[in-house]
Amino acid sequence: MFTRILGTGSYLPEQIRSNADLERMVDTSDEWIMTRTGISERRIAAPDETASSMGAIAAKRALEAANVDPSEIDLVICATTSAQYAFPSCACEISGLLGISDCPAFDLAAACSGFSYGYALAHSMILSGQAKKVLIVAADLMSRACEPNDRTTIILFGDGASACVLGESETEGTIAVHMSADAKYGPLLKMAYPKRGVDTSNDSWLYMKGNDVFKHAVTVLANLVTKTLEKGNMQASDLDFLVPHQANLRIIAATAKKLNLDMSQVIVTLDKQGNTSAPSVGLALDEGIRTGRIKRGDVLLLESFGGGFTWGSALIRY
Ligand code: ACO
Repeated sequence: MFTRILGTGSYLPEQIRSNADLERMVDTSDEWIMTRTGISERRIAAPDETASSMGAIAAKRALEAANVDPSEIDLVICATTSAQYAFPSCACEISGLLGISDCPAFDLAAACSGFSYGYALAHSMILSGQAKKVLIVAADLMSRACEPNDRTTIILFGDGASACVLGESETEGTIAVHMSADAKYGPLLKMAYPKRGVDTSNDSWLYMKGNDVFKHAVTVLANLVTKTLEKGNMQASDLDFLVPHQANLRIIAATAKKLNLDMSQVIVTLDKQGNTSAPSVGLALDEGIRTGRIKRGDVLLLESFGGGFTWGSALIRY
C-alpha cells in the first residue's frame, strides 16, 4: 500500500503589507529587506480571522480539489503554533467548521516544520491502517507573534493557511519522509505562551537570533535533502521541483545549489507571502499545482526547518 496526494488547497488573507508599509512602521528599507530576504510583501489576517477560520477555507479548497466529501475524512491534523485555544484544538475547530464529526483531530506544534511533520504523520497513519484519508491543515498568524517595533522579525512573517488531503493508493505517491529535531538550538528561535497569573510582563513575542538560525538552517537543510533522497533511493537529478520552506531566498538558493537545481525548478512564494511558518510549504505546493507548474507524475522534494529546532521533508511523486 502507498499514499498519494489527492488534493491541495490554501488561503491568504486579503490585506497586503508591503516593504513600503514596513518602512513607515520601523527603521528599515525595501532595499535591506529585498537583499537580505527576497521578501517584497506579506499577507496580514483581519482582526476577526483566526488560524481555524483560515485553515477551514484552505481545507475546503483541498477537499474540493481532491473531490473528497468531508465525511470521508478519518483523521484531521492541524499544524499550528497560533491556535486560538489550547483546547478545543484548532483541528477540532476546523472539523466543526467543515461538519466533520466522530473523527480524531489534533494539533501538532513543530513551528515552520509543521506541514512536513503533518504530512509524515498522515503518511504513517495511512500505512499503519489507522486511516484511509487524512486532512492535513497548517495555519499560522505569525504577524501577531511579532513585536510591532522589532524590525528583525516583523519584516519576515506573514499569515496564511494550507491544506492537503492524503489518501491510500495502489500506486506510489509518497516515496520517503523524514522528521527530526534538536533541542540544543531551541533558545535561538522561541515564542513563549503568554503567562497567566504568575507574571504580568509580556515576554511572549517571537524571538529569533536570525543570523545563527540562518547558518544552522543552511547546514541542516543540506543534510536533510541528501538524507531524504538516500531514503527514497533517488538522485537530485531525478527531481522535477524543490518545494522549500519559505524563510529566506538565500537559504532556498543554497539548498537548490546543493541539489544542483536551477531556480526555475524551485517553487518560490516568499516574495509575495513572507514566512508564514507551518503552512509555508503547503502554500508553495498548492501554488505550484494550481498554476500548472507541478503536474501529475512530477517528483517533488518538500523540506522545512523551524523553531525547536525541527526539520522535516517528503519526497513525493505527485
Ligand atoms: N532593516 C534594516 N536593518 C536591519 C533589519 C531591518 N529590518 N534587521 C536587522 N538589521 C540590521 C541589524 O541590526 C544588523 O546591524 P549591525 O550590523 O549594525 O548590528 C544588520 O542589519 C545585520 O543583521 P543580521 O541579523 O546579521 O542580518 P542577516 O543577514 O542575518 O539577515 C535575517 C537577517 C533575514 C533574519 C536572516 O538572518 C534570516 O533569514 N535568518 C533565518 C530565518 C529562518 O530561517 N527562520 C526559521 C524559521 S522561523 C520559525 O520557525 C518560526
